[in-house]
Amino acid sequence: MPDFKINWNEIKRLISHRTKMIIINTPHNPTGSVITPDDMKELIKLTRGTDIIILSDEVYEHLIFDGIRHESICYYPELANRTLIVGSFGKTFHATGWKTGFVLAPSNLMAEFRKAHQFTVFASNTPVQYAIAEFLTDKDNYVHLNNFYQKKRDYFAERIKGSRFNFVPCHGTYFQLLDYSKISDEPETEFAIRLTKEFKLASIPVSAFYHQNDDNKVLRFCFAKKEETLDKAAEILNKI
Ligand SMILES: Cc1ncc(COP(=O)(O)O)c(C=O)c1O
Repeated sequence: MPDFKINWNEIKRLISHRTKMIIINTPHNPTGSVITPDDMKELIKLTRGTDIIILSDEVYEHLIFDGIRHESICYYPELANRTLIVGSFGKTFHATGWKTGFVLAPSNLMAEFRKAHQFTVFASNTPVQYAIAEFLTDKDNYVHLNNFYQKKRDYFAERIKGSRFNFVPCHGTYFQLLDYSKISDEPETEFAIRLTKEFKLASIPVSAFYHQNDDNKVLRFCFAKKEETLDKAAEILNKI
C-alpha cells in the first residue's frame, strides 16, 4: 500500500515560472495522511524567492490522532505571508450540512479573495453565522474532537485486525484505508461495487480521486459511525 507521502522531488520538477498556486491539504482526505515539519521545510525551500501562492486546506485541523501536531501554515510565518488557509465549521462542529467555513489570509490576498467570494457565494446566511459564533465561545465544543474520532478509529481497527485486509491506522479525518491486495486483483471500483452488492458494505475506491485512475487496491471506509454499525462492518470484513 502506498504511504501517500508528498514526493517533493516530483513537485520540484513540475514547478515552472508559470506556477501560480500550490494546494496542500492536511490532514488529508481521502488518505488520512498528514504533513510533517519536514514537508513544511520543503515547501518553504520550494517557494522562497517565487510569487507562488499557497492554498492550504486545513478543514480537518481538529481531526488529527496519535498526539501528532497539526502542521498549520500558521506556525510558519514565511509561508503564512503567501497563503490562504481554508477551514470548515462544518467539520469542526459536526455540522457538515451547514456549508460554512472561513478563510485566513494576509490582507493583500484577502482583498483578492473577497472579490471572488462576492460574486460566487455573495453571503453566508445569518442564522448559521449566529449559531457558529455561539459554538465558538466554548473550546470544549471542538478541542476533544480528535479523542472522539480516534476512539472510533481504534474501535474499528481493533475489530478488523484479524481480517485479510492490510492497513496502517490513519492519522487524521474520518476514514480508514484498507488494502485488499491479498484478497483480490480486481480494480478498486469493481471490488467496491461487489462489496456493496454482495456484502452490503459501502466504501469509496481511492482511484476515484485520481485524474489518471491510479489503482492501488485500496478502499476508503468511513468510521464516523455508531459502534453497532462498526461492529456489523467488521463482521463482514472479517469474513471476506
Ligand atoms: C479536504 C476537504 N476540504 C474541504 C471540504 C469541504 O468542507 P465543507 O463542505 O465543510 O466546507 C471537504 C469536505 O469533505 C474536504 O474533505
